[in-house]
Amino acid sequence: MFLQIVTTLALLLAIANGAAIPSGLEQKSTPDGRIVGGTATSIEDHPWQVSVQKSGGHSCGGSIISNNIIVTAAHCLQPPVTASILKIRAGSNKRTYGGVLIEVAAFKVHEGYNSVTKVNDIGVLRLKTKLTFGSTIKAITMATATPAHGSAASITGWGKTSHDGSSSSELLFIDTKIVGRSQCSSSTYGYGSSIRETMICAAAANKDACQGDSGGPLVSGGQLVGVVSWGEQCALARYPGVFANVAELRDWVLQAQKTV
Ligand code: ARG
Repeated sequence: MFLQIVTTLALLLAIANGAAIPSGLEQKSTPDGRIVGGTATSIEDHPWQVSVQKSGGHSCGGSIISNNIIVTAAHCLQPPVTASILKIRAGSNKRTYGGVLIEVAAFKVHEGYNSVTKVNDIGVLRLKTKLTFGSTIKAITMATATPAHGSAASITGWGKTSHDGSSSSELLFIDTKIVGRSQCSSSTYGYGSSIRETMICAAAANKDACQGDSGGPLVSGGQLVGVVSWGEQCALARYPGVFANVAELRDWVLQAQKTV
């Protein structure tokens, strides 16, 4: 009995320290482990993060790039989505309350977005009223150069905590490393030629973005380097998260924000 308690405690400690859950003990509902592998974080540490809400519920993440422009993924803005059903919540680490909820005046999707290949998976939203910047609401600068392979990069969002799980009510955060486009399409991973121009990858053991994180930020060196786009399930070892490469799409965003 005593031995069993000691063993259980040791196991719990190991899990708390980030060890993988032994497969026999994994819950059936979380086959891919646990923003998978994330920790709760405060909005002050990621004040550019917003929740893009569709008909009153969280649907995607987004990033504030100016007081009235949000960058998100093109696939979050596909028909039948219209601006009138969209709102964004800024300044809260909860997706259902807090901060400010603001209506969307209009949006624009990259003309070169392809729903099959997912190239150019980026779009911009223009808000009806301007955001007031403060400790919980701030813009992030878009990167002008693609981050190097191996650079540290963080991902945040309210997405699912496992492939078959549910969305997180609190904002979660993970640290990952950039996987360059050529490395991401190499035989080290399972994607091959699916990794096209305008895409960049990021990976870390048992950590990944997942459904509901789309459109949200991949940040490296304090700049927005990617937009959560797609992946094979979530947190699979041979399948990094795939992101729209902001450095390559920045010129489109700069143009689009003037005309949206
Ligand atoms: N497409 C997903 C969404 O709509 C995001 C997928 C990201 N997946 C991943 N394994 N990194 O939320």
